Amino acid sequence: MSPNHPTKNTKYTKSAKKIWLEWTRSHGMEAAHTMTMITKPRGTTEDDITAEVLRRFDATAQPRLRDIMQSLVRHLHAFVKDVELTEGEWMTAIQFLTKTGHMCDDKRQEFILLSDTLGVSMVVDLINHRKPEGATESTVFGPFHRDGAPELPAGGNIAPRDKKGVPTIVSGRVLTLDGGPIAGAWLDVWQADSSGLYDSQYTGTDELHLRGRFRSDEDGRFLIRTVRPVYYAIPTDGPVGRMLSATNRHPWRPAHIHFVVSAEGCEPVTTHIFDDADPYLESDTVFAVKNSLMCTFVRHDSRDEDAARFGVEPPFCTARFDFVLKPALR
Ligand code: BEZ
Ligand code: FE
Repeated sequence: MSPNHPTKNTKYTKSAKKIWLEWTRSHGMEAAHTMTMITKPRGTTEDDITAEVLRRFDATAQPRLRDIMQSLVRHLHAFVKDVELTEGEWMTAIQFLTKTGHMCDDKRQEFILLSDTLGVSMVVDLINHRKPEGATESTVFGPFHRDGAPELPAGGNIAPRDKKGVPTIVSGRVLTLDGGPIAGAWLDVWQADSSGLYDSQYTGTDELHLRGRFRSDEDGRFLIRTVRPVYYAIPTDGPVGRMLSATNRHPWRPAHIHFVVSAEGCEPVTTHIFDDADPYLESDTVFAVKNSLMCTFVRHDSRDEDAARFGVEPPFCTARFDFVLKPALR
């Protein structure tokens, strides 16, 4: 007999006993059986479980946390019911997330990569950075930013050790929404080298390369020497790579340069400029391309005096892009 099953010695509270008597009298049912229903009222259907889990979060003190947890449970349960997840698939998912965690350290962030390749990072970006017309749009931060990039003067070269890439001068202005110059803005810049790898992806060295911090001059101008960015594959040697190949997706990102542009009194923008001739613009594996972030990299095959002043000889590229910052919220 189950421990909850009532016997003639079971002590009931007064109200439970009253309900039991009324119920059995009106339905002519056997008392013990009826009492089991009263003391064990929990439903056990799939939807009952969902409702019960949601109810357990009702008392959460922070309303925002309660809303997030209840919405998470609602969507997670709906997903499991929708696909009728098998126990084997459930275990595969647990192992996938476990491996994703094990892949993370101070140089590798597989969870960000997972969020990026599922498009979650871009949805979060779009919700959180609604910009007024004309302001530079944001895009994913990505997992390759590093603190401590050197501060370089206008024309400083962030790629001194990349001898294979096409020398490139990126210039432009940092502006307010009404077109005025922003002096003293910071431009934190990073990119992959001409082999499509970030400095942190090389083993055996901690040296920073293809990174720099520049300041705009009194007219809002900046000038950066680098190499032309190339399209590259995101890391595929972990669970995210296996997810991409199992679903017949490619791992490529179109050529781009990363920027965080910030200035006093303005909202900083985390963004990229994309090479508008890249073959992967339509199918970026992390969904980060926005039309307003296109930039033309113009190739030059003859000598140019201005470029030569920065030590740049042909063939080389130039690219121009203006960043427009919106005022910070007070
Ligand atoms: C990147 O552009 O550095 C990047 C962004 C998202 C995922 C992987 C790499
Ligand atoms: Fe990148």
